[in-house]
Amino acid sequence: MEMIKKGAEAEIYITEWKGRKIVIKRRIKKGYRIKELDEKIREQRTKKEALLMMSARKAGMSVPIIYDLHINNKEIFMQYIDGERIKDVIDGMEEEMQRKICEEIGKSIASLHKNGIIHGDITTSNMIWMNDRLYFIDFGLGMKSRENEDRGVDLHLLMEAFKAAHKNKNLFKWVFEAYKKNFEESKEVIKKVDEIARRGRYMRGVA
Ligand SMILES: Nc1ncnc2c1ncn2[C@@H]1O[C@H](COP(=O)(O)OP(=O)(O)O)[C@@H](O)[C@H]1O
Ligand SMILES: [Mg+2]
Repeated sequence: MEMIKKGAEAEIYITEWKGRKIVIKRRIKKGYRIKELDEKIREQRTKKEALLMMSARKAGMSVPIIYDLHINNKEIFMQYIDGERIKDVIDGMEEEMQRKICEEIGKSIASLHKNGIIHGDITTSNMIWMNDRLYFIDFGLGMKSRENEDRGVDLHLLMEAFKAAHKNKNLFKWVFEAYKKNFEESKEVIKKVDEIARRGRYMRGVA
């Protein structure tokens, strides 16, 4: 098994399984937690991530297919998305393509929110472009919610992530425009985003 990433929470492996190239996401032990509690937390997060990915797929989004869960090992077996991370490729693209992808991002988030799903970590590192389709991964910090506050936090994070990772301000503007266009409740959510941004500036003492 080849490890492709070791994060704070999980290790990502690429391997073959039943003739398919798959990814195994394994949540790793945290020595600072009591053993029983640590087991429980990792088990819950593993299940939650898989469930959220399955609901996102039901809602018509492109996410990796979940093949199996090995709960004892805190592992999710999922489809390997053999594409490019949006973070690595979008800056170098033609404007027309950038716009197309950003519209896709906005539309996808609208779909998630409409279906009661909060992603929890919407950054361009958690999006993969494969065969002209946008895939979302990494639902480990997500949750089920239809609250505009939670939706606002989701979008605010995306805004901050775009600001930090991509110079071109249009990218994020296109994402928001598409979100607004595709979600009837977007006005309320955007209000929340503004509120959260103001709160943040106030806390940092710059308002
Ligand atoms: N299904 C997948 N297909 C292809 N690459 C993946 C897949 N899942 C994860 N990866 C790669 O591994 C990285 C980390 O996975 P992710 O689920 O985002 O975990 P983390 O919580 O550590 O960010 C991703 O940025 C991506 O490059
Ligand atoms: Mg990630």
